[in-house]
Amino acid sequence: MSSTPTPARKPVTLPRLLEMPARGEKIAMLTAYDASFAALADAAGVEVILVGDSLGMVCQGLSTTTPVSLEAMRYHTECVARGLSRAQGTAWLVGDLPFGSYQASREQALHSATVLMQAGAQMVKLEGGGWTTETVRFLVERGIPVCAHLGLTPQTVHALGGYRVQGRGEAAAAQLAAEARALQDAGASLMVLEMVPAALAATLTAQLTRCPTIGIGSGRGTAGQVLVMHDMLGAHLGRVPKFVRNFMADAGGVREAFQAYVNAVKSGAFPVDEAHAW
Ligand code: KIV
Repeated sequence: MSSTPTPARKPVTLPRLLEMPARGEKIAMLTAYDASFAALADAAGVEVILVGDSLGMVCQGLSTTTPVSLEAMRYHTECVARGLSRAQGTAWLVGDLPFGSYQASREQALHSATVLMQAGAQMVKLEGGGWTTETVRFLVERGIPVCAHLGLTPQTVHALGGYRVQGRGEAAAAQLAAEARALQDAGASLMVLEMVPAALAATLTAQLTRCPTIGIGSGRGTAGQVLVMHDMLGAHLGRVPKFVRNFMADAGGVREAFQAYVNAVKSGAFPVDEAHAW
């Protein structure tokens, strides 16, 4: 008896990601920092893998992301890209531009983004609104897809006064919304919203029709979700944010934990708004 071969999955492309909200499909994004975990996340159906500068905290033992170097980001991006390629993975790969690698000038940002793209990233992520808008436009015009990141921006934790909710209150919400629209207009094609009140994140998600939002600690109304891999595996150092769910707790192993995360994001079972009561 001949068995029907499993159809090969198609690579995740930017047009496909942009269409997912209209199709009612949630985007599952997860961080990864090495070849093996990236391949497992990909096999579980994670559509977007982020080589986050959170690697400074979870891999390097730092207490913030600010000391992470461009060379460290390049190295881990290359490891993840290699793992995806060996496993014939299909996930879209995003590399985080670290603190100090894009603030000085648009040319500096272009140089740093080029380093990550040449290491295998398909998109770069940078934090903040305001002045970053022109940097995003500059990169996008030069063929580099960009993921924006608003709300809690960990690279500027010292300026923000801690890891706290952003966009609370009318004025702060209006400013965040204006920055989000400007970033979309500049060409950002994904936007991480970190620790933003759930109602504001849902409103922005409805308004940003050309830039799907990916929430972390921002409620269930975003177009997708992202978590730091070590946090959702219960393998974190120190305190874990209350919006994180430990998917390893009821899983038989890492594969099952990744699968449970993807299923929960897709079905809307993760997150629950009660965990984001800000
Ligand atoms: O660095 C990172 O892992 C991130 C995610 C938390 C979005 O920026």
